[in-house]
Amino acid sequence: MLLRVLGSAAGGGSPQWNCGCPVCAAVRSRAGLARTQSSVAVSADRRRWFLINASPDVRGQIEAFPGLHPREDRTTPLEAVLLTDAELDHTLGLLLLREARALRLYTTPAVRKTLCEGSGILRTLERYCPVEWHAVLPGAELALSDGLSCQAFDVPTSKRARFGAGPDHGRVVGYRLTDERSGGTLVYLPGVQSLTPALRGEIQGCACLLIDGTCWRDDELVRLGLAGKTSREMGHLPVGGPDGSLAQLPSLGVGRTVFVHMNNTNPILLEDTPERRTVEDNGMEVAMDGLEVQV
Ligand code: MLT
Ligand code: MN
Ligand code: ZN
Repeated sequence: MLLRVLGSAAGGGSPQWNCGCPVCAAVRSRAGLARTQSSVAVSADRRRWFLINASPDVRGQIEAFPGLHPREDRTTPLEAVLLTDAELDHTLGLLLLREARALRLYTTPAVRKTLCEGSGILRTLERYCPVEWHAVLPGAELALSDGLSCQAFDVPTSKRARFGAGPDHGRVVGYRLTDERSGGTLVYLPGVQSLTPALRGEIQGCACLLIDGTCWRDDELVRLGLAGKTSREMGHLPVGGPDGSLAQLPSLGVGRTVFVHMNNTNPILLEDTPERRTVEDNGMEVAMDGLEVQV
């Protein structure tokens, strides 16, 4: 299977329009460093593509990737959209896909409820195009296309539910994707608060892990005076620190580890920072838009 990172930054992108923090300022001053918002495309045959999350940058992301370009008759290689959660950075793009003849959408029942009754995105989208919704049930195998299957797993979070209380189970999920021919497995986990024993089990031994790289430090936004909450309180395990993901991941036997969903403040976004060097010295990578992973 081939996975292409369409967008490697967290909500707001990098740089973020209203942010002049040192990392945003550096990204603005150098060419080619900007990143769009969190989304990947996956395919087993390079003909049918599945989007995981639909970012507000989806239009530009599709244009930047010939694999997703439409045909003369307006059919497109985009088969379906899978969601990990109902966050705006992962769902606003659904509204930008409204010209579709029909859209196949995979979410948990909890995410569907938020999209209908909370943000209203799904209700609005349905006024423009028919949406064929498929339930994602953590633990159940989903056949996506010939040779490509996936299984969602629940990612517990105490992050504030912005749109009110829904069921907690399935509010955030990760996906384990399997290429039936090569047997290769890939885990996509753009939001994770804590690596619980169950989550470690899901990640264990996969060929490639794409994981939440939102903040380097737990108090990154607090120190910069930009927010009152820590990274963990916002549902994101920091990368650095004694109990950050960088310290915890090496014991899990993952073939290749790539950080995604970086917040605009995270120094690993820049190639020449000590934090970036630490990631790379540990044999891990920081995604850039357009990065492709084959397993
Ligand atoms: C998050 O995951 O915390 C988001 O990127 C925040 C946002 O979308 O604004
Ligand atoms: Mn996000
Ligand atoms: Zn910034």
